[in-house]
Amino acid sequence: MSWQDRWEWWQRGVIYQIYPRSFQDSNGDGCGDLRGIIKRLDYLAWLGVEAVWISPFYPSPMKDFGYDISDYKDVHPLFGKMADFDELLAEAHRRNLKVILDLVPNHTSDQHPWFLESASSTSNPKRNWYIWSDPAPDGGPPNNWISEFAGSAWEWHEGTQQYYYHAFLKEQPDLNWRHPEVRAAFYQTMRFWLDKGVDGFRVDVMWHMIKDEHLRNNPHNPDYDPERDSPYHEVIPVYSADQPEVHNVVREMRLVVDEYKNRLLIGEIYLPIEKLVTYYGNEESEAHLPFNFQLIGAPWDADHIRSVVDTYEASLRQHDWPNWVLGNHDKPRLASRIGREQAGVAAMLLLTLRGTPTLYYGDEIGMVDGNIPQEQVKDPRELNCPGRGLGRDPARTPMQWDNGPSAHFTEGVPWLPVNSDYREHNVGDQQRDEHSLLMLYHRLIELRRRESALAVGTYEPLESSANLLAYLRHDHKASFLVVLNLTNEPQSFKPRSRPGTGQVVISTHRESELQEVKDRIDLRPNEGIVVRLASPPERPASSAEGP
Ligand code: NOJ
Repeated sequence: MSWQDRWEWWQRGVIYQIYPRSFQDSNGDGCGDLRGIIKRLDYLAWLGVEAVWISPFYPSPMKDFGYDISDYKDVHPLFGKMADFDELLAEAHRRNLKVILDLVPNHTSDQHPWFLESASSTSNPKRNWYIWSDPAPDGGPPNNWISEFAGSAWEWHEGTQQYYYHAFLKEQPDLNWRHPEVRAAFYQTMRFWLDKGVDGFRVDVMWHMIKDEHLRNNPHNPDYDPERDSPYHEVIPVYSADQPEVHNVVREMRLVVDEYKNRLLIGEIYLPIEKLVTYYGNEESEAHLPFNFQLIGAPWDADHIRSVVDTYEASLRQHDWPNWVLGNHDKPRLASRIGREQAGVAAMLLLTLRGTPTLYYGDEIGMVDGNIPQEQVKDPRELNCPGRGLGRDPARTPMQWDNGPSAHFTEGVPWLPVNSDYREHNVGDQQRDEHSLLMLYHRLIELRRRESALAVGTYEPLESSANLLAYLRHDHKASFLVVLNLTNEPQSFKPRSRPGTGQVVISTHRESELQEVKDRIDLRPNEGIVVRLASPPERPASSAEGP
């Protein structure tokens, strides 16, 4: 049995997130679609990723660009038909690519038949499928909970004279996950897709799914700064999210997923590490991968990153499998956050840490935040809170495939403007350039696929100077030393305890490759290297025997 067979695909492989509106258009309407994704599967297979996670493509009024779903078991005509999805799944599987769907259980669209029924009268059998409440004594909202998209999270419903709760837009009413029928209906939805053969789900806002039974007020946040913070942070969401009972729901979801072989459950969870790790479950399993966004929020310097990695590693129990995310459709682009010069170092970090990496489309070519003129803003968060840098359109601009018109994303008018830098930064040109960021991603992923030490081996931090990150990855077959220069100055690495001699197998600067490495390593500005050690480190390596 090979080491690849001893580990789960979602432990050893890389996940690639596709935002379908922006990946590839196939019919000239300016929006990406499922047939467009099919067209690009060969690219993804070449890149070497194991799985694609596709953000929602279900029928939706598109108030939140697909995260407001009006039918969980169909495809929005903008993206194609169910037959296109079936073909996409078959074509992906033919190339050994797994397909992960976005599951949005916390809320539906207000146009979903469930909500229309629920809102039709207080005695409707689906009334309690959503969270309805009488006004406070003063006639206002039942409590002080705030929507993630600003304003009260309660919307008055004239027809039935009650408020309903929405953690996001008012067009996204929250389902009541305390109701057994909601759970049953949703588990059926999961089985519908699992029966088709999808390989797993990324569960939207998993920690939001259950709210306090008594709808108690959230405490005021003393650190809230209205100039700096999103209005959502005016209160601390003690009662509106991360409730103890949510773990029952996640356990049940996991049981549904486990009715099938080799399927994956990911949770989108923005919580501090000590809370995040509770979503792995205890005696009973919960999410395989509670998404770890710590690197997105951390300042880009060696001290902060070292501390994030060490704290996270120390919080995991033996069977908790780590994961790392550097970007997604809700956050500013990686290359804009840390600067393009550091993009190669970030790629190396993501692909050499212990744990499953998730890569956001376009980050592999160093796409930066797009410049979206005010009149072209689409994102409801920017429209609701303009000018605070909260808008998500900049990170959702069309994929830059080559230097032709509209970067060959579409033959029509793109739904968001293509970044003006696409002639310098695109897949086609970077595939032809051995020194490009894309080739670095491709080669790092290839190395990781070959080397069990990098994919699933032990992680051991090494002491280094303040501006460097250095660590070992090893197993019984091989040892690798990774050294990352997080500055744009030259730096030297001199290990306290000698990790051994070796050869640079991959560098962000190809000129350094094949160099022999001894006691002292000199790194160029913004350079990262992976060194294959000839002699294993002093401490014995653990083996890649599987979990
Ligand atoms: C998290 C998603 O990633 C985001 O895009 C969406 O707006 C909210 N959940 C609401 O579904």
